Formats: sequence, C-alpha cells, structure tokens
Amino acid sequence: MDKPSKIAPAKGKLGVLLPGMGAVSTTFMAGVELVRRGKSQPVGSLTQMGTIRLGKRTDGRSPLIHKFVPLAGLKDLTFGGWDIFKDNAYQSAANAGVLNPQDLEKVKPFLSTIKPMKAAFDHDFVRLIDGPNIKKGKNKYELALQIKEDIANFRKASRVSRLVTCWCGSTESFVKPEDVHSTPEKFVEGMQSNHPSIAPSMLYAWASVTSGVPYANGSPNLSVDIPAIQRLAHDHNVAICGKDFKTGQTLIKTVLAPAFKARMLGLDGWFSTNILGNRDGEVLEDPGSFKTKEESKLSVLEYILQPQLYPQLYGKMHHKVRINYYPPRGDNKEGWDNIDIFGWLGYPMQIKVDFLCRDSILAAPIVLDLVLFMDLAQRAGMRGIQEWLSFYFKSPMTAPGLYPEHDLFIQSMKLKNTLRWMKGEELITHLGQEYYD
Ligand SMILES: NC(=O)c1ccc[n+]([C@@H]2O[C@H](COP(=O)([O-])OP(=O)(O)OC[C@H]3O[C@@H](n4cnc5c(N)ncnc54)[C@H](O)[C@@H]3O)[C@@H](O)[C@H]2O)c1
Repeated sequence: MDKPSKIAPAKGKLGVLLPGMGAVSTTFMAGVELVRRGKSQPVGSLTQMGTIRLGKRTDGRSPLIHKFVPLAGLKDLTFGGWDIFKDNAYQSAANAGVLNPQDLEKVKPFLSTIKPMKAAFDHDFVRLIDGPNIKKGKNKYELALQIKEDIANFRKASRVSRLVTCWCGSTESFVKPEDVHSTPEKFVEGMQSNHPSIAPSMLYAWASVTSGVPYANGSPNLSVDIPAIQRLAHDHNVAICGKDFKTGQTLIKTVLAPAFKARMLGLDGWFSTNILGNRDGEVLEDPGSFKTKEESKLSVLEYILQPQLYPQLYGKMHHKVRINYYPPRGDNKEGWDNIDIFGWLGYPMQIKVDFLCRDSILAAPIVLDLVLFMDLAQRAGMRGIQEWLSFYFKSPMTAPGLYPEHDLFIQSMKLKNTLRWMKGEELITHLGQEYYD
C-alpha cells in the first residue's frame, strides 16, 4: 500500500459502538469519562501517555503520540452499544464489579444514559448466558439489516462525523472458516438461509463494514477474520483488525518467549492456568467457547519460537492452557505459569509467574487505543486488515499466507514505524552505525 498522501483531520465527534456492554466496555467508558473530568490518569494507553522517537537519538525529538498524529480527542468520544441484558452502562458496570463504588458514583449520571440496543443473539453460540434484550427477525440477514439500521440511527441521533465499532461481546463457540464465509455473495445467502456457521459477531461485522464503519474485534471469535468480510472491507474502504485483546497472561508470554529465543534457551514445556470469576469466565466454562479461546492462546508460542527452525530447542515443547471459572475472584484473575526451560548442555531450569491481574483494567486502555488508531487509519485511507495493530491482539489478523508477529517488541516497533511512515518520517531500524562515523 502507498503512504497516505494526506490524513483527514479529526473534525467533529467520534461515535464508539460496542457490541457487548459488559465488564470491558463499561470499564472503558467509565475510564474515559473519569479521565476527561481530570479525576484519573489513562494508565496503560499508548495513545494517551506514549511518546514516539523521531530522527536520531541525538535529535531530542520525542513528541507524545497524540501530538504527532491527528487522533480524536477524548472529549469528542460518544458511546453506544448492544447487549442481551437491558442494564444501562452504570448498572452493568456495578454488576461487573471492576471499579469501586466511589469511582462509579462519580460517573453514574453519564453511564446511566448509555442504554444498550437490542442484541442479535444466538444461544447456540454462547450457551451459558441468556437475556431478554434480543432482536427478532425471520433470518440472520434481517438481524444484520436491523444492526445496520441501529448504526444509521445512532449516527444521526448523536450527530457524529465518524464511527468505530469494537466487539466487546462474549466469546462464541468455535467455528472454522467454511465455504459460506468465502465470498460476500455466499455470506449473504448464508445469512438468508440461517446457516449454522454464521455467528452473531459476524452479523455485527458485516453490518459495520457495509456501513463504512471500521471494526476491531476484541474477542477470539472469527467475526471479521473471514474472506467474505475482508473482501467487503476492501471494497468499502474500511479498516478492520483483530483478534482477542492481548491483556494478561498472553502479554507476559509474548514478552518472555522472545527473550528465551533471542538467547537460544530451550523450552520443554509451558503450563498456563487461570482462575477468574467474571461473566467472561462463566461463558468460557462452555467447552465450545473455551475451544475458541484456547486456539487463540495456544498459537502464540509456535509462532514466536519457530520449532521448525529450532527443533533441538523447541521441537518437543508441551504447551497447555487451562481456564477455570471461580466466582470468588470476580474480574481479578490469577494467572499462573510454570515454564520449564533448559540452558547450556541441556541443564533444566524453571520459571514461575503468578500474575494477579485485573482483566478489564488491562483491556480498557486497549479498547481506547484501538478506537483512536482505527479512526486514524480510516481517515488515512488505510483499508482492510490493519496488521500494525497486532500489538493489541493475542491472535493478530494478517494477509493470507503471512504468519502473524507475536513478539511484543516487534509489534511495538511495527506500530511506531507505521505512524512514522504515515507522517513521512524516517523509519527507525536501530542500526546506529551513523553515530560511529
Ligand atoms: N482482559 C480481558 O478482559 C479480555 C482479554 C481478551 C479478550 N477479552 C474478550 O472481550 C470480551 C468481553 O469481555 P468481558 O470481560 O467484558 O465479558 P462480559 O461477559 O463482562 O461482557 C460481554 C457482554 O457481551 C454480551 N453479549 C454476548 N453476546 C452478545 C451479542 N451477540 N450481542 C451483544 N451483546 C452480547 C453479554 O451479555 C455480556 O454483557 C470477551 O469476548 C472476552 O473474551 C477480554
């Protein structure tokens, strides 16, 4: 793709559409409002706190990212969403129990005004929850058209100049790409005939993309990761990205694994287990939804360690991931990792990681960054898969035939170099020979 010749300014309001108004969505919206009111800091958000080095190390040019590229300001964000429950964003946030009552109280009037639109839902894809706020339609195509109408109505009523959708709904049952997902035409026929392999998240993706609205996928669901929607994204000049926010355990995994590989340390096995007690954990108790998550979490090590290139080091590794629903912990997940590595002459060593994290606290700034960067990409005319946003995903989408980059530091370099490229700045290779001439 050619370098964007110009980036349209971030004029007017930016609407953020969130299918799924649960723990992550409400923590994100509440956080944006707390930050806008000067009551909190946007910790964890690269767009708000990060800088970018330009030119040589001796140039002393490291502007804030949001001053370097024209991002929408927090004050211009306005929110809408869908959920199978009728709770407004305040009730849902209180129910999720991520933020303490004092913080929630400060944003109660704001959150209470955000009421979910009726969801396109299919119990076969999310078996362990059910709710009353659900669309009715003859077939999946009708439901998708209703979502398109919701998007158009929201655009009009909230007087936004641009929109971005970020899927924060539940993890759906595992589906593999099939013939019905292969072209836009077959996909429409599939929706009309209620094809069982078309998941609700795909209906939101189709409605968004065909409405010209960029779509980021925070869950491991296929959603936009099918050829039919990718073709439509190309034809409608819409940016898409996914999948599955990289937050706790996988974030740490994609920091540690590249270190082992860089130093040619071997790996016998990596056992990862989690306990969590939020609604996400409840949904993941279902084997279908767990399989989708497991696939997303497992792929990381294979790609980073490349056992085909290093059979002596990584050819026999055992990688296991477990997730256990344990209500007392709520959103405060505990992720344990036992890592069996080996060094010089094959001598074994162990590393134990115990991350007592807060799932939605880690995910909320990712939603913010994705929304702002996707809006930027859209204004810069960058259509289709936005691989430079791999930094935020456990299972990054790539062009067909390309393997994804999982190493967090390669991803970070890719992201920042993309911003430099967009603005016509020199890319940073870290070669550094010029300092020694
Ligand atoms: N750290 C994290 O929290 C993290 C990391 C990676 C991915 N994710 C993913 O993000 C998503 C949201 O996580 P969460 O903790 O907020 O979960 P949550 O269960 O609190 O919220 C999800 C919401 O989606 C709603 N929903 C389900 N199907 C829907 C549909 N078809 N249409 C509209 N709404 C629907 C549910 O009712 C629920 O309120 C999950 O898929 C999760 O796997 C979260």
